[in-house]
Amino acid sequence: MTIQKSRAETEIRFPTDFVWGAATAAYQIEGAVTEDGRGPSVWDTFAHTPGKVLGGDTGDVATDHYHRFREDVALMASLGLTAYRFSVSWSRVRPDGTGPVNPKGLDFYRRLVDTLLEAGVQPWPTLYHWDLPQALEDAGGWPARDAAYRFAEYAQLVCDAVGDRVVNWTTINEPWCAAFLGYASGDHAPGRRDPEASLRAAHHLLLGHGLAAQALRGERRRIGASVNLYAVSPASEAPEDVDAARRIDGLQNRFFLDALLHGRYPEDVLADVDRFDLGVQDGDLDLIGGSVDQLGINYYNRFFVTGQEGAAPAITSPFAQASPWPGSEHVGFVQVGRPVTAMGWEIDESGLAEVLTRVAEDYPSVPLYVTENGAAFDDVVADGENGEGPHVDDPDRVAYIDAHLRACHTVISAGVPLRGYFAWSLMDNFEWGWGYAKRFGLVYVDFLTQARIPKTSARWYSSVIEQGGLGR
Ligand code: NOJ
Repeated sequence: MTIQKSRAETEIRFPTDFVWGAATAAYQIEGAVTEDGRGPSVWDTFAHTPGKVLGGDTGDVATDHYHRFREDVALMASLGLTAYRFSVSWSRVRPDGTGPVNPKGLDFYRRLVDTLLEAGVQPWPTLYHWDLPQALEDAGGWPARDAAYRFAEYAQLVCDAVGDRVVNWTTINEPWCAAFLGYASGDHAPGRRDPEASLRAAHHLLLGHGLAAQALRGERRRIGASVNLYAVSPASEAPEDVDAARRIDGLQNRFFLDALLHGRYPEDVLADVDRFDLGVQDGDLDLIGGSVDQLGINYYNRFFVTGQEGAAPAITSPFAQASPWPGSEHVGFVQVGRPVTAMGWEIDESGLAEVLTRVAEDYPSVPLYVTENGAAFDDVVADGENGEGPHVDDPDRVAYIDAHLRACHTVISAGVPLRGYFAWSLMDNFEWGWGYAKRFGLVYVDFLTQARIPKTSARWYSSVIEQGGLGR
């Protein structure tokens, strides 16, 4: 593959201030789970429970980023990334979620932020990427309102430590997953299966976001949340399919968008779940609405939804048993024969354009960032020839990101305020219920030696950044 292109050949140009990043999350990469005073999170407990994660994998060592962050930041700089999205481990900063602060935990993130800034890479921290301190889960977890207040306190602690140097903040990552995979289907930590608890968790995650946004607010700071949005289409024109698509779009997309950007929950979604008590109190939605300066969108694929009997569930875990859709447990998902990634997710870049356009139309004036997009494939390390080191050629990932970047460019040209793109992920890591079996990285990680090998996609992405765009 020819990677380098001259500027003249690069005809698909992104704005010069476009943010080019890559993303990770604490439990997926840090390891060092008992070091320097870190307390356990729900993911430590869950991963150590037999039968929850493929192969019994855990985040105990992960990619050892806690010890190798300097090497990893150097790698980011060598690729030319202008920003790095990472998450902060709550139980590293405040081990039991309510008690004493752990200064060594905050020091780690101070060092990381400083190292990034010295390398010319903007730090984009996310405060919650699913690793609730276990002690807070024991006290009721996200279904309990108290978690939201504790989250705001933790946001303040991190802000006090690095708030003078960090501009772009993400409060919560993919609250749909944290609430519904965590508390409805039980595919993710803490593994509970209680539809009402999952809806309360969703509301309290959003409330926690609103409270944290108040704590973070300050001159120069820009606050966002990252939601996982899907393009949603009915599997057919049959009324039950159309209604199933409305339900999934409602709980997956509009529930979070309407709350964050309009300060309300959609009426039809509230009707779908009206047998449950979400725990909403007066003033909550005023606090949640209008709390973002920018919105992060994580996009992977399109759902074709059916309300007809016998359809397959969405692929959310290798052990999926229960539905993550409270109030719509009967809906199913069909595949339409498009090529799939190693996750079994159909590749559909038109869905990204659709999602971005829809958000820009329905919720105007909010700057948007794709805070995650990428694909798992079964990467293979090949021995280098002519004295070159080992390499990993991943043309499918290059094609995936290329297609999605073109979709981004198309919508920018049409006026959508998309300001940046973060590839998921910087490096292979712990893919939740799938353990280390699924590789999303631009950089290959040998989990035995911790060697990092930039894949072809990393070098290709680097050249895209350097050129500020793509060839036609
Ligand atoms: C979304 C999540 O935020 C991230 O943690 C995960 O690894 C990717 N999707 C891929 O599934």
